[in-house]
Amino acid sequence: MTSPLSPSITTAAPVASGHAGAPMPARAGLSPALKGTVRVPGDKSVSHRSLIFGTLAVGETRISGLLEGEDVLGTARACAALGATVERLGEGEWRVEGVGVGGLTQPDAPLDFGNAGTGSRLMMGVVAGNPITATFDGDASLRRRPMRRILDPLERMGVEVLDAAEGGRLPLTLKGPRDLVPITYESPVASAQIKSAVLLAGLGAPGETVLIEKEASRDHTERMLAHFGADVRVEPFGEHGRKVTLKGRPELKPAPIAVPADPSSAAFPVAAALIVPGSDIVIEGVMVNPLRTGLFITLKQMGASIEYLNERIEGGEDVADLRVRHTGRLRAVEVPAERAPSMIDEYPILAVVAAYAQGTTRMNGLSELRVKESDRLAAVARGLDAIGVHNRIEGDDLLVEGAGSVSGGATIWTPKVPGGGPVATHMDHRIAMSFLVAGLAALRPVEVDDVAFIATSFPSFLPLMKQLGAVIEVDAAEGAR
Ligand code: S3P
Repeated sequence: MTSPLSPSITTAAPVASGHAGAPMPARAGLSPALKGTVRVPGDKSVSHRSLIFGTLAVGETRISGLLEGEDVLGTARACAALGATVERLGEGEWRVEGVGVGGLTQPDAPLDFGNAGTGSRLMMGVVAGNPITATFDGDASLRRRPMRRILDPLERMGVEVLDAAEGGRLPLTLKGPRDLVPITYESPVASAQIKSAVLLAGLGAPGETVLIEKEASRDHTERMLAHFGADVRVEPFGEHGRKVTLKGRPELKPAPIAVPADPSSAAFPVAAALIVPGSDIVIEGVMVNPLRTGLFITLKQMGASIEYLNERIEGGEDVADLRVRHTGRLRAVEVPAERAPSMIDEYPILAVVAAYAQGTTRMNGLSELRVKESDRLAAVARGLDAIGVHNRIEGDDLLVEGAGSVSGGATIWTPKVPGGGPVATHMDHRIAMSFLVAGLAALRPVEVDDVAFIATSFPSFLPLMKQLGAVIEVDAAEGAR
């Protein structure tokens, strides 16, 4: 691993180091009622984009609340390597002095995105709009992930793929043309990463770039394009889709960004409070953009008590404080496939909550889970097996049988998740966090094989969970901080 910050990024104080080498196993055990008020780190999607848009604007962009996880630091390093001045002023406080659309300089070394699909894919779109050559690389997990889905539209716009591993995977080298061709592209997958790569490339093309998606994916790129002064139009398309039209070659104006707390990180303490009896917690300032809240909708349908307090707009995003209380009345549901884009990263933790719910939860249409940081469909299923929870995969659907028993004339449900392990996490932060949460109310502790990758998205996960009362122990002395 590279150091958290390269010399090309100025920093007053170094940020905490993430995964550096040896795996760090950990164990989560039966915990007392979780209590307290916490704030989870900034949203990962908005954090990547704020650095990228800061780079593409002319002048100084100030960012507060930036997620200082490994994934986002990789994007910060890439922005610096491409000519922006990126400076850390204090905790979560950053400034970016941008070079403008089309103003990137050629990097003199490969860009290493570590574990980050979002960082690498969005930056491919950024590089495409500049007449430069750049090599993209990442860790073993990222090198396995499909990149053809990004290369296909970029090649149609005139980008040359000079070199790539088998199947168009990393490491790969792109050459942006002098004159990019604007295209109309109907995305084959509901993916904000594909959409964003095409739109970011479209910034460098003359004329209108149009992106059509049949199911709406997260819209942070569109919101930020408008925030930085681009001419962008979003219209409905079909029943659930959207059509985004972007006028190329704008001069983006620097704009301040306050990054709201990440709902995908909040998902873990939320789930923990729902399964640990007596819990009552508040998570402050969580982004509740409707394209990100599929998990909260699903949990409420299962009988969870999740209240949105102090709903407000912050930094152009809907935000609320979430109050979450244990009710002990979680029931299985069927989650429709069309909800997947609004909760794509939350299925592992939903599967854990489902293990504690009465009945069999069915999650439909999970094919995209197979190409995340790990094959999450398989990793979740094997993890559930390891902790004694019955489950099965039918095609692209996952079925999870709640583990427990009923009494009181079949009205009182008592979850009895056996626990155990070790759960294999496959370099996947969300698998690690999900199964640690699973252990907090299990009959026996749950062991996971490596918590080091949690630093990619939620570096404060362990202290924050412990602050709420969770019993989690990390084997390596370094990780137990
Ligand atoms: C992200 C989009 C999602 C998500 C990822 C972040 C983004 O991927 O899984 O963690 O910031 O655009 P897809 O939209 O490609 O499914």
